[in-house]
Amino acid sequence: AAVNEENLEPRAPVVTIMGHVDHGKTTLLDYLRKTNVTAGEAGGITQHIGAYQARLDGRLITFLDTPGHAAFTEMRARGANITDITVLVVAADDGVQPQTIEAINHAKAAGTPIIVAVNKIDKEGANPDQVINQLMAYDLVPEEYGGSTIFVKISAKMGQNVDQLLEMILLEADVLELKADPTVPARGSVIEARLDKGRGPVSTVLVQQGTLHVGDPVVVGNTYGRIRTMQNENGQDIKEAKPATPVQITGLNEVPSAGDRFVVMADEKSARAAGEERAKR
Ligand code: GTP
Ligand code: NA
Ligand code: MG
Repeated sequence: AAVNEENLEPRAPVVTIMGHVDHGKTTLLDYLRKTNVTAGEAGGITQHIGAYQARLDGRLITFLDTPGHAAFTEMRARGANITDITVLVVAADDGVQPQTIEAINHAKAAGTPIIVAVNKIDKEGANPDQVINQLMAYDLVPEEYGGSTIFVKISAKMGQNVDQLLEMILLEADVLELKADPTVPARGSVIEARLDKGRGPVSTVLVQQGTLHVGDPVVVGNTYGRIRTMQNENGQDIKEAKPATPVQITGLNEVPSAGDRFVVMADEKSARAAGEERAKR
C-alpha cells in the first residue's frame, strides 16, 4: 500500500555519529544513553541493540550506534539511506584527521546535513576554533563566517553542551520536515543482526514507514518469517513500533544482513514466497 499524504505524521530524526578514531563517538553515545535511561526502565538494564532513542523536551531523536564507515558505505550501497542527519565528532585537541575527511565525504555522498560536535573542549590544549578553521576548507562554514553549518562545542565526557547539541539536531530536523505514514504495512531496514543460541536470529531493525506489530509476516532480504517478539532499546517487550523506532525482533528463519530491507506482507505464505524468490536471484 502506498504512503498517503493525508496520513503523514512527524517522525523522529535518525542520526548517525561519525568521526576519527578516539575523537569521542562512543563517549557521546554513552553519555546520552546514561542520561536517557530513566530509573526503573527494565531494571535499568540497557541492552545493546545498535540503536536507541534520546529524548529532549518530549521529542525523540533516534541514534544509530556508529556502524563504522565501512558498514555505512555498505548500507548506502544497498540503498538503505536511513540517516537523516550526520553528527561529525572532531576532537578539539587533535583536529581534522583522515577519517574526519572520510566521514565528511560519506555524509556529502549520502546527502545528509552535517552538524559538527567539536569535542573534548574540557581538555588542556583543546583548540575548538582551530577545528572550525580547518573544517572551513571542507565547506563546513559556521554562520558567523557566512555559512550555514551548525557547530557545537562539547565535552562528551563531562556532558557539557550535549543538550545544546540535541537542540540543534531537533532544529535541523524541523528544517527537514521529517514525516512518515504509520498506517501502511511496515517497512524499514536492518541495522544489525546475529544468531542467538536460544532465540535464533535476532535483528535490530529501524521502522521507516508504517507500524510494525508482533505477529506480522515479513520478508527481509533473502529470508522471511513472522515477528515473534519485539523489544525496545531498554529491553522492554512491546507490541508495535511506529516510524523511526529501532526495535529488536525475533522470528526470522535466517540471519539477515545489515542494510537489508524488510517489508510486511499480507500473510506468511506470501512472505515465504517473496523470500525464496529473492534468495534465487
Ligand atoms: P573509536 O570507536 O575507536 O573510533 O573511538 P571513539 O570515537 O568512539 O572515541 P571514544 O569515545 O572511545 O573516546 C576515546 C578516548 O577519548 C577515551 O579515553 C575517552 O574517555 C576520551 N574522551 C572522549 N570524549 C572526551 C571528552 O569530551 N573529554 C575528554 N577529556 N576525554 C574524552
Ligand atoms: Na576509541
Ligand atoms: Mg567508539
